[in-house]
Amino acid sequence: MPPVVILAIESSCDDTSAAVISDGNVLSNCVATQAIHEQYGGVVPEVASRAHQVNIIPVVEMALKKAGVQKKDVTAVGFTRGPGLLGSLIVGTSFAKAFALAHQLPLIEVDHMQAHVLAHFAENPKPAFPFLCLTVSGGHTQIVLVKDYLDMEVIGQTMDDAAGEAFDKSGKLLGLGYPAGPLLDKLARQGTPVFPFPEPSMEGFNFSFSGLKTSILYFLKNQVKNDPDFIEKNLSDICASIQTTIVTILLKKLRKAAKKTGIKEIAIAGGVSANSGLREALEVMGKKEGWHTYIPAFQFCTDNAGMIGVTAYYKYLAGQFCGQDAAPYARR
Ligand code: KG4
Ligand code: ZN
Repeated sequence: MPPVVILAIESSCDDTSAAVISDGNVLSNCVATQAIHEQYGGVVPEVASRAHQVNIIPVVEMALKKAGVQKKDVTAVGFTRGPGLLGSLIVGTSFAKAFALAHQLPLIEVDHMQAHVLAHFAENPKPAFPFLCLTVSGGHTQIVLVKDYLDMEVIGQTMDDAAGEAFDKSGKLLGLGYPAGPLLDKLARQGTPVFPFPEPSMEGFNFSFSGLKTSILYFLKNQVKNDPDFIEKNLSDICASIQTTIVTILLKKLRKAAKKTGIKEIAIAGGVSANSGLREALEVMGKKEGWHTYIPAFQFCTDNAGMIGVTAYYKYLAGQFCGQDAAPYARR
């Protein structure tokens, strides 16, 4: 039997990505990051759509070349249908449809958040079902109960800002560039978490991060009133304090969910799972709680088509295809 070769496309936000997956193995995973948004301090949707148009064909060509796969060898096309920025999603969706039409291939729509979870099946070791996945990105913060590849339930989520937004907005207050998350992480590694910030009390497995942003804002205002150079002098300690607070909020809820469900297979996913503080703290908590922990390689944490292709592969095996009329969705 020839292998099932999937060409996967991801364009939900500001990364244009294409990947080739053969029988579930990621042969290539190429990402064109749009640095243009840095100058605006955030993603500008219209600029993102235009950059996807520029990048999509070269990224696909590169992914095919790196994988050593020709267009005629592709079995199916997978693409991110949502959630994300509509204008961005339309570029990837339209490309996927056109490619499928030209080569007479089946189309597979993929949910971006489901793909972040299934990124764990791009490498070894793979978590065993059922497992819990803390999915933390720029747009989402969820605790997902994963019963099978295509059977998952969100049991907790943020009521306001996502964890990635908490990093990015706090970093902005400190004058860091965009996206601030990775920069704050780097600075935090050189600091000590000496400034206490309050943790919200939320029901069940839900999260809230908007209060944290407000308390950081007032804390900085007060300190700068007394010492105009406060931020500059204490930057790494402030970063370490913010990071520790966010990580503590996330992991306390994850531990609560693990205790309640009795599940000891614990994974993290999404852009924020690249955070060094979160990765380390999860290992420490995992040892203490007797968990098997799963942390994706960096290339599968932030937005990438590899995870879209892996998800599309399991949907292919389950016979879950979509029509040429599939329209992107901004939200679930
Ligand atoms: O999953 P992702 O690439 O895109 C979305 O689906 O949103 O996540 C992007 C988010 C951004 O908020 C970015 O600041 C954050 O992930 N991020 C980090 C780190 N790397 C990426 N946050 C904290 N520490 C990091 N090392
Ligand atoms: Zn994402």
